[in-house]
Amino acid sequence: MRITMIGTGYVGLVSGVCFSDFGHDVICVDKDPRKIEMLQAGEVPIYEPGLDALMAKNVESGRLSFTTDLKTAVAGADAVFIAVGTPTRRGDGHADLTYVMAAAEEVAQALTGYAVIVTKSTVPVGTNRKVKQVVAKANPAAEFDVASNPEFLREGAAIDDFMRPDRVVVGVQTERAGEVMAEIYRPLFLRDFPIVTTDLESAEMIKYAANAFLATKITFINEIAALCEKVGADVKEVSKGVGMDGRIGNKFLHAGPGYGGSCFPKDTSALARIGQEHAMPQSIVETVIRVNDDIKHRMIEKLRDLCDGSFNGKTIAVLGVTFKPNTDDMRDAPSLTIVPAMVGGGAKVRVVDPQGFREGEALLPGVVWSDDPYKAAHNADLVVILTEWNEFRALDLDRMARKMAHARMADLRNVYSPRDAKRAGFEAYEGVGR
Ligand SMILES: NC(=O)c1ccc[n+]([C@@H]2O[C@H](COP(=O)([O-])OP(=O)(O)OC[C@H]3O[C@@H](n4cnc5c(N)ncnc54)[C@H](O)[C@@H]3O)[C@@H](O)[C@H]2O)c1
Repeated sequence: MRITMIGTGYVGLVSGVCFSDFGHDVICVDKDPRKIEMLQAGEVPIYEPGLDALMAKNVESGRLSFTTDLKTAVAGADAVFIAVGTPTRRGDGHADLTYVMAAAEEVAQALTGYAVIVTKSTVPVGTNRKVKQVVAKANPAAEFDVASNPEFLREGAAIDDFMRPDRVVVGVQTERAGEVMAEIYRPLFLRDFPIVTTDLESAEMIKYAANAFLATKITFINEIAALCEKVGADVKEVSKGVGMDGRIGNKFLHAGPGYGGSCFPKDTSALARIGQEHAMPQSIVETVIRVNDDIKHRMIEKLRDLCDGSFNGKTIAVLGVTFKPNTDDMRDAPSLTIVPAMVGGGAKVRVVDPQGFREGEALLPGVVWSDDPYKAAHNADLVVILTEWNEFRALDLDRMARKMAHARMADLRNVYSPRDAKRAGFEAYEGVGR
């Protein structure tokens, strides 16, 4: 198959690289010339484990290339994937479809023969039908079908998720489009990974429902964690006991500082708007959004309490600011709420993150970046574990405690136990829900 991938962000680049590894010919297009220059030079603009090697291998084989020239890239393609951003629209919480529709229009004008236009971006129900109208209007002679193919990869484990998915979801209207999609995903089908083929609307809905459910699960355990603190239970034990129930499962049951990232906040918000628009409010999702917000603010109060009621004049070391480990993505990370509250309250904040600096430098003004957790903790009044990078999972707590002015720890990912911290000489330790 000849595949064109529009957008080389976290989803477009990973998908393009993996499709080329399946054996397809892939051209990746982005309108950002700096990204394309980097990619053409063999550099990966994002941090995603394993992506650089897989990309190099497929460029070398001649199956993968990068361009800013959408017109040439689309000519002769069997399938054109749209994997551009769908951020929250300012003001109303809706998914902003500007980039998707602009890409669809450009693709329409570049089509040279039958192709399937596949939306991989997360888009509200009804968007694929709109894409179809936009393409037909922009190029009435175009021969095409649309398909919905939402993506479920997780940043930090994206290649494995793409190559070994729980399922692939494909929404189509015609047999012809279904055949093209089946051919594209044949390598996965042959290895018995389930492919769910359905209609456009159901495919679009599956993505939002899946993300909203996961956000709900996280928020549920976070709220239980807050209650655990009041009643003297340990949420880690509670999660373990609850998660062993096969009907519930142990994933997404780890209490923390609230969900963030490039998907859950915007997708829950978009789903809530879709519900309101159809006079079918999604009250669970609306509540999840509100509770998740409250949780982040509760974390700030927890940190303030550990600083004797005021951040003013305190030195605080923050370990991890990306929204989760193994990514450099800072979009809607809890750190973007929590760190500015400390800086604004008069704290001197030192930040350590293995990959966060490039994105985080502009987003977290007023902090000092450090590459060493012990240096960051030197003479500090508080150390905060905000993202559970492996680098922060096996700290020498004795060494850290000895370096601090006040050995206090807020472990917002429950990496350590209160007992470990006390033994190491920490005078105060606060986890989440214990
Ligand atoms: N990031 C994730 O983990 C993830 C997972 C599943 C689904 N998604 C969904 O996938 C979509 C893309 O997300 P992302 O994180 O990869 O976004 P991103 O912002 O990292 O990348 C989008 C890219 O598209 C490019 N682009 C925009 N308009 C273009 C155009 N007309 N022509 C060429 N390039 C164009 C941008 O320059 C950018 O490089 C979103 O809808 C998102 O919700 C993301």
